[in-house]
Amino acid sequence: MRIIKNILILTGSAHKNGTSLLLADEFENGAISSGNNVIRHDAAFLNVNGCMGCSYCRNNNGVCMQNDDFNAIKENLIKADVVVFVTPLYYFDMSAQLKTVIDRFHSMSSKLSEKPRGAILISTQASPSDSTSDVLKLHYKTMIDYLKWSNYGMLIAKGVPSREAIIKTNYPDEAKKLGENIK
Ligand SMILES: Cc1cc2nc3c(=O)[nH]c(=O)nc-3n(C[C@H](O)[C@H](O)[C@H](O)COP(=O)(O)O)c2cc1C
Repeated sequence: MRIIKNILILTGSAHKNGTSLLLADEFENGAISSGNNVIRHDAAFLNVNGCMGCSYCRNNNGVCMQNDDFNAIKENLIKADVVVFVTPLYYFDMSAQLKTVIDRFHSMSSKLSEKPRGAILISTQASPSDSTSDVLKLHYKTMIDYLKWSNYGMLIAKGVPSREAIIKTNYPDEAKKLGENIK
């Protein structure tokens, strides 16, 4: 019998009609069509404050002293079997909106390492060059190694500054297939 996977998608763009949220939509459709449970949080439209590094969580059983939209993300992170990070490339790395959410993992880093999870990176960038995303890829790999998660795939969409550009490419199909392949 197949075990249904809980997939959590975290996105980091403020462009509802941009490139990375199109890939998030396609991935989501593919993952749902394969029978997975999919939950998505679009960080740019949430109220998630930056980690204050106050260590309150360290002394209070992982509870963060900030009461904001990270509470809902936290519950879904714990349930997730696969976490999908979707971001536009901003100055060679992920957007601040996504990074702000990831920094808040700090209150639950050990808990997040307790069970095996998969991770996926989906990004979009204006530049056609492979090396433009080197820092992002290294950041992602280093982060999932630290969390003891496994890489289930990376889709780096290059040369796509806008929705008009990306719809002419195969990247939306690739994102959908990546979602469909989670079984
Ligand atoms: C603040 C900012 C920084 C950016 N930095 C880069 C970059 O370092 N390299 C690159 O190729 N594109 C860069 N871009 C272009 C975006 O990555 C690209 O347009 C992407 O498709 C936007 O995704 P979105 O529509 O999902 O927001 C940047 C755009 C912005 C607004």
